[in-house]
Amino acid sequence: MAGEQSEIAAAIEKDHEQLHGAMSTIAEDARARVSVDEFQEHRLQLLMRLRDFQNHLLKHFDLEEEGGFLESLVTIAPHNAKKVEDLEREHKKILVDLRQILSDVKEAANPQSPFFVRARDQLDSLFSLIDDHEARERELLQVSYFQDLGTGG
Ligand SMILES: [Fe+2]
Ligand SMILES: [Fe+2]
Repeated sequence: MAGEQSEIAAAIEKDHEQLHGAMSTIAEDARARVSVDEFQEHRLQLLMRLRDFQNHLLKHFDLEEEGGFLESLVTIAPHNAKKVEDLEREHKKILVDLRQILSDVKEAANPQSPFFVRARDQLDSLFSLIDDHEARERELLQVSYFQDLGTGG
């Protein structure tokens, strides 16, 4: 992995940590018990956090897709092609699911709203998917570093 690529890999790992932190905050936020009176303010805060998270994810996926990271995994080890394809497909699914959650949070008028209940459930599934996705990327990152050291490249 060339110097530039290892910088990108470091940036990706840093993103993973930050995204993980944001997911914990959002998950806690989404599960907080709020009264009807507090709901509008609570919903707005959740919405803002989700939008920041969405933006961070968009930039993170751009870094992975356009920065050559995913491509380099296939160059280094062609048998990674299928795994990389799956990761790219998941980026799309993650963004579609997140858009649906955002629209449900927008629709919710009170804490018991079916939209809000669904958004919270979907958020749990989404965060599990992201955790799993990032874990697979981390593994591929480590393997490519290792192979790189092995070939002196
Ligand atoms: Fe990814
Ligand atoms: Fe990632």
